[in-house]
Amino acid sequence: MPALTETLSDIVADGFAAADLPRELGSVATSNRPDLGQFQCNGAMTAARIAKRSPREIAQTIVDRLAGDDRLAAVSIAGPGFINLMLDDRYLADQTNQQRQDPRLGVAQVDPAATVILDFGGPNIAKPMHVGHLRATIIGDSLQRLFGFLGHRTVSDVHMGDWGLPMGMLISEIARVQPDLPYFDGSHSGPYPPVSPVTLEDLETLYPEAAKACKDDELRLEQARAATAALQRGRPGYRALWQHFINVSLAAMRREFESLGVHFDLYKGEADVDPLIETMVQDLASRHLARIDDGALVVPVARADDKAEIPPLILRKSDGSAMYATTDLATIVDRVAEHHPGLMLYVVDQRQHLHFEQVFRVAEAGGLSGGAAMEHIGFGTMNGADGRPFKTRAGGVMKLSDLIEMCQSKAAERLAEAGLAGDYPPEERDTIARQVGLAALKFADLSNHRLSNYVFDLDRFTQFEGKTGPYLQYAAVRIRSLLRKAAERDLAPGDLLPPGDAERPLLLKLGQLPEAVVSAAEKRAPNEICDYAYGLAQEFSRFYNACHILSETDTALQASRLGLAEMTLRALDRLLDLLGISVPDRM
Ligand code: ARG
Repeated sequence: MPALTETLSDIVADGFAAADLPRELGSVATSNRPDLGQFQCNGAMTAARIAKRSPREIAQTIVDRLAGDDRLAAVSIAGPGFINLMLDDRYLADQTNQQRQDPRLGVAQVDPAATVILDFGGPNIAKPMHVGHLRATIIGDSLQRLFGFLGHRTVSDVHMGDWGLPMGMLISEIARVQPDLPYFDGSHSGPYPPVSPVTLEDLETLYPEAAKACKDDELRLEQARAATAALQRGRPGYRALWQHFINVSLAAMRREFESLGVHFDLYKGEADVDPLIETMVQDLASRHLARIDDGALVVPVARADDKAEIPPLILRKSDGSAMYATTDLATIVDRVAEHHPGLMLYVVDQRQHLHFEQVFRVAEAGGLSGGAAMEHIGFGTMNGADGRPFKTRAGGVMKLSDLIEMCQSKAAERLAEAGLAGDYPPEERDTIARQVGLAALKFADLSNHRLSNYVFDLDRFTQFEGKTGPYLQYAAVRIRSLLRKAAERDLAPGDLLPPGDAERPLLLKLGQLPEAVVSAAEKRAPNEICDYAYGLAQEFSRFYNACHILSETDTALQASRLGLAEMTLRALDRLLDLLGISVPDRM
């Protein structure tokens, strides 16, 4: 079913067409002056230029034509020629009833659907996930849900960092402390031990030590570089040891994403495309796109109209090792061959913008992208109260699991303060606290435009009032409880009656849902879903405060109001789901 504004645009377009003016001018939008009209059309301004008549005169022609239309309660002109429209309440109810019958609440499936690859998460092997990865994960997951809901085929890939210098740092560090392991014995002909010589905890302490040593000591850095190059060239012992790193990290990584409620179709890493690199590099070189510069193989990407200088992309260092950009390019080759995407979205920190610009330019120039559009979906940082990227109290990198833990315990406190879930079984209370904590974290992140930085303020994020995840969860839970009480009294939601003043704004708000969802996807901006959902919850709360429901004696009116409540609940559930937020059954 078409959205309200589309149906209205059709009605007004007929008016323009009848006046021999282009139909597109009839486009109608929700009014930004609701005191003057629910909807407005600004087409008369453009029409005036085309027809060389005054905009007011044209607006008047259209208004005269629409005058008898019983779908409209009032049509008027404001200012230089804005056409304001008020819907007839019966028509508004009809439209909303249709939307209510639709399991998708009026959101159309895209046609044709495309395959959309979403690259997000991006954790690095052996390094703990930090808040930057958290933002990538939360935003990427929401986009995955959004594109999926619209009917696209989505393929999400975590694209873990498992092929760069940190791997060489770890290998050379372990070689230093445990030189007798068979992985370092060049004459060992395998097989290698099936059990990892290091645990995840070992890796988490070894890596920072190794990284620090490499920073302080040129020799150690050289060893790490040499180990990286040898790993990439395929030295069997190094590959076997590296495989252990992957295995122990992957298990923890999956657990961590699962606890966030985030699904990935693919747990691939940079290393997975290693077999594709040689052919790709040869191909770029043979077509003279790549050239040798100071021993390295580079692809110049600068364009005459660049505002800032864009340095060449380094495909291969002089020691033969592949770079971050090399694996990203080979990953494009892999994805295009495997999935034939129409669109590839990279949800990665905005500070990597230059990297993606270089990669996309080479992919396009080299014809690697198979015609797919590629977009870097950048985001800003989550800061501490000091305005700098969020750290632990001790000043270290905040681990994702600790952060989630913090949110959950703050949420438990808040629930207790609000007297919620107090007498539920302890396991249910824990589950609810976890759901509320995650909602606080995800909503706070998503409600800011992704490119802006924001300050981590757990006290505010976990409040049950204001624009927060917990507020929206609570709004949904309250409606669910209302409907449960109604069901206990055998009262069922029914068709909506033409609205009165207390209901009308809620019907109109529900009518905006399809546009809000589509616009959020088009702009890759989940914050628009947050804004809309918050507005909807507020509109519901106004309606709820103004109307009797369970105590209403007019049964048709009661069923209609229950219908409105049920529809709002379905909308909130859907919107929160698009944000990756789950709603408890009760609180
Ligand atoms: N591992 C990278 C990092 O931590 C992020 C990976 C993003 N995705 C990509 N295809 N480059 O910075």
